[in-house]
Amino acid sequence: MVSQIVTLSAHHWDELTFSHHWVQALEAGKVLYLPNMGFKLHEAEHRLLTSTLLSPKSRNISLDARGVLKGVDAVEGTLQSLQAMIMRYKQHSARIIHNLLPAYSAHLRFAPTSYRPAQVENRVQSWRADDKRLHVDAFPTRPNRGERILRVFANINPNGQPRHWRVGEPFETVAQLFLPRCKPYLPWQAKLLEVLKITKSFRTEYDHLMLQLHDHMKADLDYQANAPQETMFFTPGSVWVCFSDQTSHAAMAGQFMLEQTAHLPVIKQYQPDASPLGVLRKLTQRALLPSV
Ligand code: SIN
Ligand code: FE
Repeated sequence: MVSQIVTLSAHHWDELTFSHHWVQALEAGKVLYLPNMGFKLHEAEHRLLTSTLLSPKSRNISLDARGVLKGVDAVEGTLQSLQAMIMRYKQHSARIIHNLLPAYSAHLRFAPTSYRPAQVENRVQSWRADDKRLHVDAFPTRPNRGERILRVFANINPNGQPRHWRVGEPFETVAQLFLPRCKPYLPWQAKLLEVLKITKSFRTEYDHLMLQLHDHMKADLDYQANAPQETMFFTPGSVWVCFSDQTSHAAMAGQFMLEQTAHLPVIKQYQPDASPLGVLRKLTQRALLPSV
């Protein structure tokens, strides 16, 4: 398999500028790895590197656009430090996106920023929620109607532990393999899920297929073990960027990571046809979204 990782050696912001090569790689589903453009903690923030900050049932800590923290169990002063650190990371990741992908900037919708202090390898989860299995991101309750999931990750581990990922084959290959196994889309069922508020909005045929791909990938243990894939160790002090709805990925190990998601309308990509929506439309010969 051709490597799905593209390394950008920039050390400074002024070396990090638009390049067709990087954009084409990102929009083809590759991971842009920036080992030297990581997010730096302030000295006083090192005390935030503990999983005891997580409230008992939470996987992550998140900070929403209004500055509200969720998933955290801490006293007032700690909350303020967390807010400040996570907010700075949001700005750091926005700057990375802006430098690399200037045409996206005006069209991005930022999701809450997340801080993940838990040790990945200790997590016990159902197969469907298990991110140690290769998958493309698709969320059962949050249809996104083709809108892209662009993610900027930063490893802030203080003990030298890398974030260990597996990165799988290109989206089109995944889709060709699993589309024949996908259950047919039933609009009435999608309507029911919306009325019952199981989904936050109407699940389109696109969302249905993305979820089916996600589930079929994770459920297939032979695929997990034998699909073309590469191992990647994202070092502490590094940042990496990918469209996680397109890049086949699995997080195997690591602790202390920051993550920013930004949503982008497909038509604002440099090459919309390269998107999962474009690929799935080509393979199914169907529109996959209701006409508006
Ligand atoms: C995921 O998006 O599947 C998990 C990423 C990570 O925890 O490193
Ligand atoms: Fe994921």
